[in-house]
Amino acid sequence: MRTLRIALVGFMGCGKSTVGPVLARRLGVDFVDLDLEIQQMAGRTIAEIFEQDGERAFRSLESECLARCARQSHLVVAPGGGVVTVQANRRLLRSHFHVAYLRARPATLAERLRGQAEHRPLLRGHPLEDRIARLMRERAAFYDEVASQIVDVDGKSPEAIAEEISSGLKST
Ligand code: S3P
Repeated sequence: MRTLRIALVGFMGCGKSTVGPVLARRLGVDFVDLDLEIQQMAGRTIAEIFEQDGERAFRSLESECLARCARQSHLVVAPGGGVVTVQANRRLLRSHFHVAYLRARPATLAERLRGQAEHRPLLRGHPLEDRIARLMRERAAFYDEVASQIVDVDGKSPEAIAEEISSGLKST
């Protein structure tokens, strides 16, 4: 079996954790939710890691877990939306993964993320739309930079998105 190492990137709420298992099942490979791996490794929730140690400490655990995935050969991984903010991660994504960028409109993201601040520390303390707009401004170019493929996800089912990614693989 040829190497199938796929990363799903995109903003919080774009559907990475929903599409990931559907795509992995379709391809017959494992699915790794990177936030869950980080939580298991740290024995704490993402929110606790942010609160107790700060974002930098979280990013370093995230990079460590991503690097571990890059050493496996058959998997779909869904890292958190901020994984692209670290240059070393962007380099690793480009060199080791087929990267599908799940691109969603800010309005779609806002709809899905309303009421989610408890689990997503970066959304706390700001009006949601402003926070999304600001983080998107900071990250949009990074998502484009790592993407092997861009999938516009608005209005599409997880199955349709998984299908689009599989077809994208065949042409690479
Ligand atoms: C983050 C996204 C979250 C999680 C953490 C930071 C981000 O993952 O990793 O709260 O910086 O965008 P999801 O994209 O799965 O929500």
